Parts: sequence; C-alpha cells; structure tokens
Amino acid sequence: MFDQKDRAITVVAHRGLTEGSEAEHTLEAYLTALARRVDAVECDLRLTRDGLLVCVHDRHVHLPDGRRRRVSTSTIRDLSQGVGEEPGPSPPGAEPQPGGEVLQFERLLELLADHGWPMQLHVETKHPTRYGGRLERALVDLLTRHGLHQPADRMASKVWLMSFSALALRRIHAWAPRLPTVLLLDRRVPIGWQSGQRGVTGVGPSLTVLRRDPAFVRRAHRRGQRVHVWTVNEPPDIAHVLDLGVDAVITDRPSQVFRVVEEGW
Ligand code: G3P
Ligand code: CA
Repeated sequence: MFDQKDRAITVVAHRGLTEGSEAEHTLEAYLTALARRVDAVECDLRLTRDGLLVCVHDRHVHLPDGRRRRVSTSTIRDLSQGVGEEPGPSPPGAEPQPGGEVLQFERLLELLADHGWPMQLHVETKHPTRYGGRLERALVDLLTRHGLHQPADRMASKVWLMSFSALALRRIHAWAPRLPTVLLLDRRVPIGWQSGQRGVTGVGPSLTVLRRDPAFVRRAHRRGQRVHVWTVNEPPDIAHVLDLGVDAVITDRPSQVFRVVEEGW
C-alpha cells in the first residue's frame, strides 16, 4: 500500500495527455492536458532544416499519402501537410502513423501562456550530436524571447529541460544557468556522464533503472538531486515508484497516478 507521507508528487503527462483518442504531441493532446488535472506536460523536441523547433519524438514523421519525411532535413513547410504520430504511447520500434499536424514548440509556449501557465512544461531535447548544439541554442533563444530563461526560483520554473545527453544539458546550463535540468538515464551510461553529475537539478531514471537499483532515489536525494522517473503507467509500478520517494512521475496515464496517490494500491 502506497503511503504518501505528505510528499508533493509532480505528475507529468507524457507527450501531452493521450488517455483518450488524442494523438501524442498534437495540439489536441495539450489542450486535453490543460482541461484536466496534471502538474506538467512533456514534449520531445527536434529541429527542422530551417531552424524551427517542433514537438516530435521520432526521427521521421509520416505524411497522409504514406510517405515519410526526416524532420532534420525537412522545412516546416515540408512538414505542414498534416503529419503526426500514433495515438497513445507508441510501442517500442513502432512507426508513427498519420495523426494530427506537427506542432511547433512556440505554439505550445503560446498556448500555455494564453492559459496563464497552469502547469509546467518538461522539454526533452533529442539528438545533440546530429544538430551540433543548434537545437539547444534555438531552444534557449526561444525561451529567452518568451521570458522563460531566468526563473527567480529554479524549482518553480515553468520550463524544465531534460535530455539523455549530458552534453546537451551542459550547453543549456552554460547559456541559461538558472533553468532546471534533468539528466535522463535508461540502461546505458549517457554521453558525457560523470559520476554524480554535479550541476544537474535532477536525474530521470527509467522504471527499469529503479527496479534494478532500489537505492537509486535515496542516493540522488543525498546528492540534492530530484528524481523524475519515466514512463510509469501500471498501478503496481506507480505505487512502487511512489514508495521509493520519487519527485515526479512521467506517465501516459495521469489518471491512474492520481488514483494510486489518493486511494493507494
Ligand atoms: O521523459 C522521458 C521519456 O519521455 C524518455 O523516453 O522515448 O518517450 O522520449 P521517450
Ligand atoms: Ca520524451
């Protein structure tokens, strides 16, 4: 049985809220998140050839006629014909299917601003080696234009940055040192990993990492780092990570997380 112990857990809707028919990373998925009770939304970022940040997980997106386009070698115009990703969480290796339109990241910032920022935005940058720092530079410039780059209180920042690449986070930290950063970890040691990762606000282990190493959360907290676990959807797993004391749960099923928080498992 989960014992909440008065901890505040941040519930992060993975790729927008997709518990219904919403396709992930679409405007609809973020509008649904705004209409429902979540603490934060997650968004993956890629860069188009003409330098625009778009909310896309996979390297390619699919056009309605069945063709696919690589995001990094396409312009936003190339991608504006109605593309998208599969509704709900994609199984590993699954091809994205035509769904909604590609969402520009700036549109998502505007949407959250229009609603008065009722939730945080947790942004994951993809592929630091492909873009050679251009993505992180474009991101910091955009956040600066929107006045989001210098939160007075780092922990209360509207925007959090995540990456599997320590290099990407170091670039962001150099250009916008007040923004909170979370180093994501799967089973492998990430690019540029240094023991302890001083300078990051938090670490983002996969559920697999926490299953293998139940003392992970305690050690991170001793280093003063938050722990944001991904992607946890099943009630027994949700109860398990809450019992371990994680600070944030990234999930495709926010309603299940709230249910376990409130009713236990
Ligand atoms: O938030 C971390 C998680 O989203 C990482 O995995 O593949 O869903 O981007 P992925
Ligand atoms: Ca992600």
